[in-house]
Amino acid sequence: MKTIVFRTKERLSERFAYEVARQLEEKPETKLGIAAGGTMKAPLEVLVRLYRERTLDFSGATTFTVDEYVGLPIDDPASVTARLRSQLFNHIDIKRSSTHFPNGRAIDLQAACKAYEEEIVEANGIDLLLLGIGINGHLGFNEPNTSFSTYTHVAEISIESRSARLDVFGSLDKVPSRGITMGIRTLMNARRIILLVTGEPKAEIVRRAILGLVSESVPASVLQLHPDCSVLLDSSAASLLPSGV
Ligand code: GLP
Repeated sequence: MKTIVFRTKERLSERFAYEVARQLEEKPETKLGIAAGGTMKAPLEVLVRLYRERTLDFSGATTFTVDEYVGLPIDDPASVTARLRSQLFNHIDIKRSSTHFPNGRAIDLQAACKAYEEEIVEANGIDLLLLGIGINGHLGFNEPNTSFSTYTHVAEISIESRSARLDVFGSLDKVPSRGITMGIRTLMNARRIILLVTGEPKAEIVRRAILGLVSESVPASVLQLHPDCSVLLDSSAASLLPSGV
């Protein structure tokens, strides 16, 4: 696990966009895994700007979104699908049919989980997975004590994680209590992972995830076991790490 600390969120976002650009240049038919969230917003804005300035080519790329709420209409602006479309997919030349999302509206959710996992396998897996981390160390909707051996599944979303989305939903009762998420095993099958973390509130969970024991109580600690995982941190999120980590 490589940790890189940036003085500002802006510098972090520039490096993020550079890494995605380099991946696309090396492999135009890249399979990108992507999580939504507040942290991802600024980096995606830089990616869109870079796309416009350097005409990055997403036409051969395929995306797999990490998670989606259960029961939201796809055009609900609070859904992960809608947020990623408005923050990225609607601004780049990726084919709409190449952007894949877990089907949170399926009648048979178990079948939807299986189908999503099969889509990823049929695409020969994810080349680069772009993740954020929840304040309790969750990845996607994999809350603490989710088994490391899970594939795509339906997850209960903790009150803590739901409360973190009040900005998007307006009130807690509107935040769904379940989501479909890539499982920990699904995430770890990605060939390369970039985890983005910003802000002082994440400093403690970053310390536990990077320096603590690998434990299902801190889902993000599993990333210590990944062969090619980079953690991009701003100085606030890295404030509890010893220098030089
Ligand atoms: C949400 C999402 C995760 C995201 C995390 C952090 O629960 N399901 O995919 O990484 O929270 O979000 P933020 O960047 O807003 O802190």
